[in-house]
Amino acid sequence: MTAPGPGAHLLVAGGAGFIGSCFVRDVLGRRDGTRVTVLDKLTYAGNRANLGEVEADAGMAARFAFVRGDIADPAAVAPLAAAADAVVNFAAESHVDRSILEPAAFLRTGVDGVHVLLEALRVETDRARRGERAAPPRLLQVSTDEVYGSIDEGRAVESDPLAPRSPYAAAKAAGELLVRAYHVTYGLDVVVTRGSNTYGPFHHPEKLIPLFVTNALDDLPLPLYGDGLQRRDWLHVADHAGAIAHVLAHGAAGEAYNVPGSAELTNRDLVERLLALLDKPWSLVRSVADRPGHDRRYAMDGRRLAELGWANRVGFDEGLAQTVAWYRDHESWWRAARGGDWDAYYARQYAARLATSAAADPTR
Ligand code: NAD
Ligand code: TYD
Repeated sequence: MTAPGPGAHLLVAGGAGFIGSCFVRDVLGRRDGTRVTVLDKLTYAGNRANLGEVEADAGMAARFAFVRGDIADPAAVAPLAAAADAVVNFAAESHVDRSILEPAAFLRTGVDGVHVLLEALRVETDRARRGERAAPPRLLQVSTDEVYGSIDEGRAVESDPLAPRSPYAAAKAAGELLVRAYHVTYGLDVVVTRGSNTYGPFHHPEKLIPLFVTNALDDLPLPLYGDGLQRRDWLHVADHAGAIAHVLAHGAAGEAYNVPGSAELTNRDLVERLLALLDKPWSLVRSVADRPGHDRRYAMDGRRLAELGWANRVGFDEGLAQTVAWYRDHESWWRAARGGDWDAYYARQYAARLATSAAADPTR
């Protein structure tokens, strides 16, 4: 099995989202002859503007194509898989709170969509065996630390059982298990990455960091779930995208790789840092009803990825300050991202919570 190197043609599903668009910008920015086709449904979270830098650069645009389509549509996927040396699948519904409100779309993309990709890759793998294409395509399935469930102590290793606790995490775990089954049963060349909570530019404003930064810029309340002592390990998007490119090139077929972050913090500590960077008061923070089934902590052991030769590059202080500055400087981007169903979603998720909220005690 040959891992794709410089000059390969990559099919990037979900490449108009937060992490996928960073991956596309970075891979094309290497200017090593790699070509990228993005397949993206452009859901509320997908945004063609995230790829504006690529489309505005003649050198990158010449090696880039965009197809609007659904990974769960076999007719859209088959010809793109036939033309690709490798597929990197970022496509997913990605917000836990939305998965609690309406899980169906999570299963459609995370399970049916992954299955459609795998079937197309099975056809291509068989064609390679018959000598009808040079090499079988590799699939990198982008997964998440949330498949391990809540890790109250220690750090999850790749061989731990999957124990997802939200509809989002369950759909991601199901997708991963299908990917592994197609490796074992049909010999597909697959690798899986399990990334930590990611932050950085172009992050949809529904997620904690961009929601709190953009609300604070507007002096709106910051809805902190429960006691705010949940812990997350924050990974800069450039490191997440870089680790995915590294595993695509060097990962062993059939393996999963944890991609930990660089800073484990409680949500309260994180919010304090954001407010300091924004020069906004703690009084904006409201303590609201918790997320049902809220995972207390995510934490992963990163030794397998380190042994493969990857190390994160972005320090948390620097990454967070740069991210806050990006949102300050890109108001038109995040106001546009708060279009579509934003008002209805925000009311459904937060109106009752904020109406019954309390001042969040700054003293812990
Ligand atoms: P995102 O919501 O910003 O982007 C998802 C992209 O997928 C969007 O462009 C959307 O239009 C597209 N998409 C959704 N359904 C599709 C479908 N059926 N067909 C084609 N395209 C479709 O998400 P993100 O934060 O960039 O996450 C990308 C991947 O990384 C996801 O698989 C997610 O589970 C995983 N992940 C995210 C994080 C994180 O903290 N953001 C951490 C670990 C893993
Ligand atoms: P989020 O960004 O949704 O990522 P995940 O659920 O994948 O970890 O949330 C990060 C943490 O922030 C999580 O513990 C939930 C919490 N949170 C809030 O307290 N308030 C909010 O409004 C949101 C969106 C998240």
